[in-house]
Amino acid sequence: MTSTTVPEFQHRTVLLDEAVDALALTLDGARANGVYVDGTFGRGGHSRLILSKLGANARLISFDKDPQAIATAEQIDDPRFTIVHDSFATMTAALAERGVGKVDGILLDLGISSPQVDDAARGFSFRNDGPLDMRMDTTRGMSAAAWLATETEQTLEKVIKEYGEERFAFQIAKAIVARRAVEPISTTRQLAGIVAGAVKTREKGKDPATRTFQAIRIFINKELEDLEVGLNQAYASLAPGGIIAIISFHSLEDRMVKRFFASKANVEQPDRRLPIRAADLPQPELKLLAKMKPSDAEIDANPRSRSAVMRVARRLPIPEGAA
Ligand SMILES: C[S@@+](CC[C@H](N)C(=O)[O-])C[C@H]1O[C@@H](n2cnc3c(N)ncnc32)[C@H](O)[C@@H]1O
Repeated sequence: MTSTTVPEFQHRTVLLDEAVDALALTLDGARANGVYVDGTFGRGGHSRLILSKLGANARLISFDKDPQAIATAEQIDDPRFTIVHDSFATMTAALAERGVGKVDGILLDLGISSPQVDDAARGFSFRNDGPLDMRMDTTRGMSAAAWLATETEQTLEKVIKEYGEERFAFQIAKAIVARRAVEPISTTRQLAGIVAGAVKTREKGKDPATRTFQAIRIFINKELEDLEVGLNQAYASLAPGGIIAIISFHSLEDRMVKRFFASKANVEQPDRRLPIRAADLPQPELKLLAKMKPSDAEIDANPRSRSAVMRVARRLPIPEGAA
């Protein structure tokens, strides 16, 4: 048990029913008593619903990097449930340590949770002033403030440009380096002010700091590296017939998921004139099942869901007799 205190911020789960339905837990007895992974526990919206649908012999192994998410998960008193304080990018080893080989379903609901954004003390938000931290896992790694204090101007520009898709990355990096020579950049308000001064045109409905904060957060938490490794680990952990559902919140992530799924689903066939037996032809390893976005009603009720995209795929071959 951790002694982490969990502030009272709520997370409204995005695509709650849709994601859990996608795992097809109730299709037949075998799936309802299978082994499942929730790679991003957050405040447990998906995990709790999955548990409510699983049979007595099932297992759910959930992951999160965030100590507050872990403290919340530790309150779930259910012998079928295990929480792992680590990245989902460690999935295969973490499962093996717990005696699990292949699993029947994996869910990843990427990005940050509302409590992480809403709690000023976590330093993710340009709206609330707080220490410039931005780590999901506050027990390890470098804070955003420490990184901004030491990184080269070229790398700052590269990160802000690539991960934030920010046109003014050059000007922002220059302004950060100029300011840090005068005083340490240690709060979210300071950084938001520096960025606002460097971004010359305004995007409608968007704070000028949005892109830079997104970029730094992605970098500090190695979000794209984790997704790259996590996709391969999830795929390797999935039993034939197993289902993977991934909810992403920005185009860089969704593009990675889409390409990964496509690389396994659309296998290149050799020249038809070659004497190859049908049974020896390369077979697709994933079947694409769905691409889904939140309904208008969900977006109205929870505007943070508006950029979500869920992609679902099933590992082939589907065993005979499985639903
Ligand atoms: C959008 S929230 C998930 C919300 C959750 N589905 C719920 O219903 O409460 C994303 C969570 O994933 C965690 N996270 C992000 N990347 C992670 C990774 N690579 N490994 C483990 N957890 C990660 C974050 O700390 C955050 O708690």
